[in-house]
Amino acid sequence: MEHHTDVLIIGAGTAGLTAALELAEKAKVTILCKSTLGEGSSLYAQGGIAAVMDEGDSLESHIQDTLIAGDGLCDEKAVRFTVEHAKEGIEWLISQGVSFTVDSSDNSTYHLTQEGGHSYRRILHAADATGKEVQTTLVSLAKAHKNISIYEHYNVVDLICHQRKCVGAYVLNIKTKKVETFAAKATILATGGASRVYQYSTNPVVSSGDGIAIAYRAGCKVANLEFNQFHPTCLYHPKAGSFLLSEALRGEGAYLIANNKRFMLEIDSRAELAPRDIVARAIDFQMKKYGLECVYLDMRHKSKAFITSHFPMIYQSLLKYGFDLTKDQIPVVPAAHYTCGGVMVDQRARTDITGLYAAGEVTYTGLHGANRMASNSLLECLVYAKAAAEDITNQLDNWTLERDLPKWDDALVEDSEEEVFIHHNWKELRRFMWDFMGIVRSNKRLARASNRINLLRQEVFEYYSDFTITSDLLELRNLVLVAELMVESAKRRKESRGLHYTLDYKHKDKRYLKPTIIRPAKSL
Ligand code: FAD
Ligand code: SIN
Repeated sequence: MEHHTDVLIIGAGTAGLTAALELAEKAKVTILCKSTLGEGSSLYAQGGIAAVMDEGDSLESHIQDTLIAGDGLCDEKAVRFTVEHAKEGIEWLISQGVSFTVDSSDNSTYHLTQEGGHSYRRILHAADATGKEVQTTLVSLAKAHKNISIYEHYNVVDLICHQRKCVGAYVLNIKTKKVETFAAKATILATGGASRVYQYSTNPVVSSGDGIAIAYRAGCKVANLEFNQFHPTCLYHPKAGSFLLSEALRGEGAYLIANNKRFMLEIDSRAELAPRDIVARAIDFQMKKYGLECVYLDMRHKSKAFITSHFPMIYQSLLKYGFDLTKDQIPVVPAAHYTCGGVMVDQRARTDITGLYAAGEVTYTGLHGANRMASNSLLECLVYAKAAAEDITNQLDNWTLERDLPKWDDALVEDSEEEVFIHHNWKELRRFMWDFMGIVRSNKRLARASNRINLLRQEVFEYYSDFTITSDLLELRNLVLVAELMVESAKRRKESRGLHYTLDYKHKDKRYLKPTIIRPAKSL
């Protein structure tokens, strides 16, 4: 089956939906997502979206905070571009119907919260469930739009490119198990991050790095994949899976405690509000030094009224796990949270391939450098999705739709045992990435990760060549490639900077003040 559209958008998080709604005024848009519409990291965002909204704040302050958190590796032009377009992005969301929490003291301005790295209160939020508010609003608009077609449970296999122009994609219809062809004049990758490459992650299962692998296979450069961010405070409870305890809790005064002591006071003058790389590493250090299973988040010094009004979702969710945020210290551990690197794009969200754009967590824009500052990510989704939409709208008449694209060859056999192997391989990958490519690294650990990746790559290649593809196999294939790109990036950075901390080179080295760029090559 061949589908035709003007713009194909792969992913329905905040980046994908923003681009779709912007484009649909002038073009026919098709959105694909491999789960239900709206499911993805965006839906679970808690803290909020950073933007300069208060007269006492300034663009320069937001820019400087982002550069400091990025530990010398941000591309200042990208930082300025994003911060300068932040207010416009927020106003666009409000115009679409997104409702941010207002300040209860005057009811006319928005309540602004604080998170690590920000020297000013500048985070707009919808209580503690900002992503849900944004996603439900954008999802309902997309569903109602006559120019937007939506395909749920469609997993993109690979892009189709002719002479370095993207003309569409092969996509697995997960329900029929058949690969269908989507032909498009332009395509946007908005597939989110890759944090599910790790055993413990705050992310939903869709975050398997597909867009990074797909773009790399198609011939795009990727950058800074050694910088995967670990969020310091994921709930430590056997039944909680990946429940996040927002950094806004610390922004509103929560302490981090180990051995009955606020350990961050001795580590950084910003204490609990130091950038995430510093806080996550400090927790990891406490846990290893004292043999602890977790540290604790303590908000008991705040009133019940304050806690329940600012953090209603977190308060209620914790009750289900047997914790009362107003009375208990809450056990927390770091977990993989955000992929700072990704597919390289310019300020128009263009990749290396004509007609192929990327926006959101799948990208490397230069904004985050060696460590993303809290709440700059939804902002990046908005700014770059809008940039992609604008550029595509200007270009669309120059591109023709290629029809009758070569069909997918699926004359392969099914093998029921394959599913079991895939499951084992996935577990194995996530485990060794956690052990060897985690918060603290070394040359020896990276070499061990590489050896294991080489074995897995061979096995995945065999499944992929011999058997009918499944969604699980596609994800495993992408995860193995992304893991390989991450480890390769980490090996190339012979210093410790931001989220990349290695025992072999404990200090920063100014020879490495540039992004780690990997160009597509047959060896990877
Ligand atoms: P996502 O929202 O992850 O969406 C990805 C989409 O791509 C999904 O629709 C998925 O189905 C689709 N997809 C993926 N692969 C394929 C494929 N092969 N085929 C078809 N479809 C595919 N950031 C902030 O700025 N502020 C916050 O407060 C905040 N809180 C967070 C809390 C949590 C728990 C998490 C996990 C993240 C948080 N972040 C926050 C980070 C932020 O939410 C994400 O970086 C951002 O939402 C990513 O949006 P996205 O549109 O790029 O991707
Ligand atoms: C959080 O609420 O702590 C997550 C914020 C972010 O990742 O930007």
